[in-house]
Amino acid sequence: MDLDIREIAYGSAEYRQGKLLRDAVLRRPLGLALSEEDVKQDPNNKHFGAFQEDVLVGCVMLHPVDAHTAQLKHMAIASDVQRHGVGRRLIAHFEAAAKALGYRTICMEARVTAQGFYATLGYQVVSEPYMHQATGLPHVKMLKHI
Ligand SMILES: CC(C)(COP(=O)(O)OP(=O)(O)OC[C@H]1O[C@@H](n2cnc3c(N)ncnc32)[C@H](O)[C@@H]1OP(=O)(O)O)[C@@H](O)C(=O)NCCC(=O)NCCS
Repeated sequence: MDLDIREIAYGSAEYRQGKLLRDAVLRRPLGLALSEEDVKQDPNNKHFGAFQEDVLVGCVMLHPVDAHTAQLKHMAIASDVQRHGVGRRLIAHFEAAAKALGYRTICMEARVTAQGFYATLGYQVVSEPYMHQATGLPHVKMLKHI
């Protein structure tokens, strides 16, 4: 699959496409909509997109936690290209970018349904499952040292 993975500027047209993708993949299937709360930290985050023929098919955000730790947030792959390796390649790009910025640890709150995906990529579960407030879905905390 021909894929272009790159950083997206906050507020750009590509960023707005990313918000639509997050809404479609992460919120609509739950009967929810992307909320003000969901996008509150967006100006402080770094945004990455995976493009197939200029169409955004995947996105993820890097949220700075402290000097050494970045949080991976709102990972969403378009439903029609899931399980085709886009997520794996987007994470590889994300980790390389995080490393270049000086981060040494990636943390996240992962849906239990996606836990196996992150485990395949070397992330370890560091909490018991808990109910995530915004989605009402069971999540676990996961970590990877890069
Ligand atoms: C979960 C998600 C990000 C994975 O991205 P993807 O592009 O579909 O995954 P890839 O095709 O790159 O998969 C990489 C590997 O993980 C595995 N995998 C993918 N999704 C998985 C899942 N939900 N559970 C277990 N393993 C999974 C694949 O089989 C593949 O393994 P392999 O290389 O051994 O064959 C994507 O499917 C998605 O957006 N899902 C809906 C929203 C979601 O759950 N987001 C994460 C919120 S924390």
